[in-house]
Amino acid sequence: MDRSNPAVQRGRSMIAFNQVSKRYPGGFDVLKNVSFELAKGEMAFLTGHSGAGKSTLLKLIAAIERPNTGSVLVNNQNVSVLKSGALPYLRRNLGIIFQDHKLLFDRNVFDNVQLPLQICGFDHKESSKRVRAALDKVGLLGRERANPIALSGGEQQRLCIARAIVNRPSILLADEPTGSLDAEYAEEIMAIFKSFHQVGVTLLISTHDASVLRNTQFRVIELKQGEIQSSSAPADSAQTTSTSPAALSTGAQA
Ligand SMILES: Nc1ncnc2c1ncn2[C@@H]1O[C@H](COP(=O)(O)OP(=O)(O)OP(=O)(O)O)[C@@H](O)[C@H]1O
Ligand SMILES: [Mg+2]
Repeated sequence: MDRSNPAVQRGRSMIAFNQVSKRYPGGFDVLKNVSFELAKGEMAFLTGHSGAGKSTLLKLIAAIERPNTGSVLVNNQNVSVLKSGALPYLRRNLGIIFQDHKLLFDRNVFDNVQLPLQICGFDHKESSKRVRAALDKVGLLGRERANPIALSGGEQQRLCIARAIVNRPSILLADEPTGSLDAEYAEEIMAIFKSFHQVGVTLLISTHDASVLRNTQFRVIELKQGEIQSSSAPADSAQTTSTSPAALSTGAQA
């Protein structure tokens, strides 16, 4: 357990890896004995070379992949052994921005963001309200009828953020969210993430982006060939944020 993190000492861990190893079928150990904790309300970066295991680690949190050994706890629930029927409950609390976007190009911007709410069975009025709030948050309200293909790279990335936050999750995972963007767009995206952090959302963001990592106030966890190479001292970020349930419920929305 990461005793240097005051929020963790208070027992408010949101994500906890305990001796996690992951091997894809026929392959090698992509993650080896990975242990770390992220406190509730903490924002941290995950970095490392291409193939180091960043995307795999994020997929384990969302139970898209399962570990071979060890446990992954999300909000004190061991997601490594979750039955498939319980996955929707986990994912409802989790926003994910995938490295390969996963946007649907046969639907417009509004419908892309509405999809997670449709799956959860929201009625049309409530879901429309939430979709517009999410699009407003990322500055895309005026583009709701556009096809994602007509958006710039930065706008597509912001669309992915809107889709990830429309459920108002308390955890946001972002896989290389600024990968293909120039510095100005990357800063905009980081400002959006910081605004979620300020209202108590827990964020883990994988990035190669040196400009993002330079002088950051947030913890940087570095993976090298599947092992944690270093983890900078975490800011006690949970203490600087509001973590009331009310803040969480609006945090990813407005
Ligand atoms: N579904 C899979 N099946 C088999 N091997 C995989 C699979 N997904 C990833 N790998 C392998 O696992 C290793 C880690 O991949 P991962 O995508 O987690 O790395 P990464 O750190 O996210 O890399 P990048 O910076 O390029 O996105 C790589 O060697 C990759 O080839
Ligand atoms: Mg990756």
